[in-house]
Amino acid sequence: MDPITWELFDRQVAECRLCPLCERILHKVPGQGDRNSPLMLIGEGPGQVEDEQGLAFVGPAGQLLTRMLEAIGLPRDRVYICNVVKCRPPGNRVPAPEEAEACRIHLRMQTYLVRPKVIVLLGSTAAKYLLNPEIRITRERGIWTERKGIWMMPTYHPSALLRDASKKPEAWEDMKSLRAKLQELGLYRDLYGSGEETGPRTEGSNPGLPH
Ligand code: URA
Repeated sequence: MDPITWELFDRQVAECRLCPLCERILHKVPGQGDRNSPLMLIGEGPGQVEDEQGLAFVGPAGQLLTRMLEAIGLPRDRVYICNVVKCRPPGNRVPAPEEAEACRIHLRMQTYLVRPKVIVLLGSTAAKYLLNPEIRITRERGIWTERKGIWMMPTYHPSALLRDASKKPEAWEDMKSLRAKLQELGLYRDLYGSGEETGPRTEGSNPGLPH
């Protein structure tokens, strides 16, 4: 068997025909970011802009995600970002269970290669496939679970925040909880480069999520 490498992952995604989603796309969207990051963010699936560019979270939801990360002092290029499915579902519908299951092989390989210490699950599709098929995001967001040494937390998908701004205070609580978890696990230096002096901003300096 071939050793598991990023080259194998890239080839496997490029050649994948495990479900029909790839028949109607412009580009596959494997995911991108710092492949050595201790923090991985997982969304649902590419939207239109992502399909056009072949990059995850670059449309309006992605731009909000970038600002959310920056609000806790995290440069987006220091984290790894991907989705449950690597091909855009038509009309941005939720991926069907068999599509998400077919794509699991890619996400598994990706998680194996990045070896994150913390995973944030963006929205209920990611939370269902990675944490608990019965999860209710409104009730269980912000709760940390440890699995095989990896800390995972579900939170609202940034698209949900764009649709309903009243969810933003809870999302901000989750971002602060993420910052606290990274601090607790001693991941400052990995994520912020040179340590305390360039670390996450403190409570007083940032009053909430950006618009
Ligand atoms: N929504 C997602 O779940 N992922 C993306 O990459 C873009 C929008």
